[in-house]
Parts: sequence; structure tokens; C-alpha cells
Amino acid sequence: MRILAVSGSLRESSFNTSLLRAAVEAAPEGVELELWEGLGDLPLYDEDLESDVPESVQRLREEWASAEAIVFSTPEYNGSVPGGLKNAVDWASRPALQGVLRNKTVAVVGASTGQFGALWAQQDLKRILGIAGARVVGTEIPVSRAHERFDAEGRLLDGEVFEELRLHLTTLASEAVAAPDRVAA
Ligand SMILES: Cc1cc2nc3c(=O)[nH]c(=O)nc-3n(C[C@H](O)[C@H](O)[C@H](O)COP(=O)(O)O)c2cc1C
Repeated sequence: MRILAVSGSLRESSFNTSLLRAAVEAAPEGVELELWEGLGDLPLYDEDLESDVPESVQRLREEWASAEAIVFSTPEYNGSVPGGLKNAVDWASRPALQGVLRNKTVAVVGASTGQFGALWAQQDLKRILGIAGARVVGTEIPVSRAHERFDAEGRLLDGEVFEELRLHLTTLASEAVAAPDRVAA
């Protein structure tokens, strides 16, 4: 099964992107995680562009649609989801009732340097994804004090978080397989 991994951070040394790189390693057998890298190419959402969507949006819609499931890793900015990630979800949610997130099985994780591990951002992201029609599975994985959990090369140092990722991805994959409208990639 192919699962897309979307980081909500554009930062070169992002802890959230590092968390998803760890998730690539933690993925259970039969699950292949692929990092998606189109976030920074997207224009701000503008409904006027829907009649002839930019190529970057077209790419987002095709690539998110072709994944059997998506795992998002979100930082927390001022207590919620960073604008860039919300923007991507907004593009993916349209056309209304036909967006690529509709019935897509998704899960959320997150890392922040604060002590709550982007918990509010994850809760908000789950709500937003649900409103866009996604099947949101699993709980949150709040990776707090992220600067202490990765080495200088961005490798995850925390074995417990690694195991949590494995469990989370196992749940995500099994929920995606069980989805009523599953289209095997
Ligand atoms: C604009 C901004 C707002 C932030 N607000 C929060 C916050 O509300 N809660 C929190 O835990 N960390 C907050 N942080 C710190 C981020 O958790 C930290 O920068 C983190 O490393 C971002 O994720 P990344 O490493 O994936 O880029 C904020 C950072 C920025 C730049």
C-alpha cells in the first residue's frame, strides 16, 4: 500500500519532515510511505482560479487522489495549523463534495518545540480534514520538545515515538484497506 506523507512545514530542517522520514522507516511491512513536496508551490487559495487551476494545484489534486491514504505531520503556529498546510487542504477540498480528500483515509501526527507537541494543531487539522470529507483515523501523536528528540541530521532519537508511529501507520493502513470505497493503487 502506498501512503503519502505531507509535512506542514517548509523549513529545510523541519522536525515535522524529520518525523515523517522516521515514519518511512517505521512503516509496517507492505506499507510504502512517500514524502510529498508540493506545499510551497501552491498559490493562496483563490476561487477565481478554479476555472483553470494552476499546475501546482493540479499536481496536488492528482497526487493526493492517487494515494490510498495520507499521513500529515503538522507544526503548531500560534496554537493551530500553519497557514500553508491549511491552504493545501483548502485546495484539496474543492470542488465541493468532489475534492480529493473526500472519503480519503487520513491520519495526523505533529511535532513542536513546545511542551504539548502541536496537540492543538493536530486537533484542529483533524477537524478541518473531517470537514473536507476525509475519514480521519487514529489519535494524535504529540511530539513535544522536538529539538531534543532528533539528532543534528534529523534522525529520530526516541524509540517510543518510533513505536507510536509504527502503530499509527498500522491503524491507518488497515483502516484504508477496510474503507468501503477502496480503490487499490
Ligand atoms: C509563527 C510561529 C508560531 C509558533 N507557535 C507555536 C505554538 O503555538 N505552539 C508551539 O508548540 N510551538 C510554536 N512554534 C514553535 C514551533 O513548534 C517550532 O518552530 C517547530 O520547530 C516548527 O516545526 P518544524 O520544525 O517542522 O518547522 C511557533 C513557531 C512559529 C514560527
